[in-house]
Amino acid sequence: MFAYRHHFHAGNFADVFKHALLSQLILSLQRKDRPIVYVDTHAGIGHYDLTHPWAIKNKEFAQGAGRIFGSTEYPPEISPYLEILNSDNVGSYLLRYPGSPVIARHLLRQQDRLVLNEFNASDVRQLKLVSQDWPRTEVRSEDGFRLTKSVLPPKERRGLIFMDPSYDRPAEFERVASAIEMGLKKFATGVYAIWYPVMNESVTWELIQRVKRFGSKPVLRSEIYLPKVLFPGLMNACGLLIVNPPYQFESVVDVIGRWLLGRFDSSGDCRLLNQMID
Ligand SMILES: C[S@@+](CC[C@H](N)C(=O)[O-])C[C@H]1O[C@@H](n2cnc3c(N)ncnc32)[C@H](O)[C@@H]1O
Repeated sequence: MFAYRHHFHAGNFADVFKHALLSQLILSLQRKDRPIVYVDTHAGIGHYDLTHPWAIKNKEFAQGAGRIFGSTEYPPEISPYLEILNSDNVGSYLLRYPGSPVIARHLLRQQDRLVLNEFNASDVRQLKLVSQDWPRTEVRSEDGFRLTKSVLPPKERRGLIFMDPSYDRPAEFERVASAIEMGLKKFATGVYAIWYPVMNESVTWELIQRVKRFGSKPVLRSEIYLPKVLFPGLMNACGLLIVNPPYQFESVVDVIGRWLLGRFDSSGDCRLLNQMID
């Protein structure tokens, strides 16, 4: 039984941060002509209607995508993501939000392939509808934490595994760590991006330590913190852990993160943590 529905959170600050970085990760892998695979272990439904009652309930998108939609001045690092957000909407009203599969689809080249996975039966039906005409796209419906076993290594030998669980059940951090361990055993050179809510330092640190233990790969820890008062009772900080990040990706995160912080909050009570873990 799945209680979590991403529609309540679509387009919030966490989505904006992760999707802006996701766009740049895909583009970095595409610097060479060789094909890549994009594997989305927890894909959601693709497009999110922001006029839907679930999106309207807390209007989380107002503090996220709503703060950047229609921007006219921004660094080039954010423009691929902003262009996708704009192309998902007509005119100056923010009515729809593109989820991770839609972002990947926009960036897909002729030689690339998408593997999208979603376990919620109703969500996967919507995802199949959204992606029915997409080329070189496979939609699966299995436990996303097992995907690193079932689809790796990819024939392309180059790719990004994006793991974006809902963290609404016990032991999900533990399951993420085990899934990445399996992934690194089968596909050691893959790029892995794991999204997580920042809860407390020890939970994050335990995840980092476990990921580091498997083959001591380079790991970039990128987190964004917004003032708690803006999000009463809700998450105010999140991160992306990137295993095998592209060369100097931390400087891309830096530019995107700082620009987003300026749009999300002008009080200064916010910060970016962006560090390679030795
Ligand atoms: C945070 S949302 C994903 C959002 C999506 N990645 C995006 O960025 O647009 C997490 C998704 O994981 C799905 N889910 C929950 N448990 C899962 C599991 N064990 N395997 C695969 N999907 C799962 C939920 O139904 C939900 O759609």
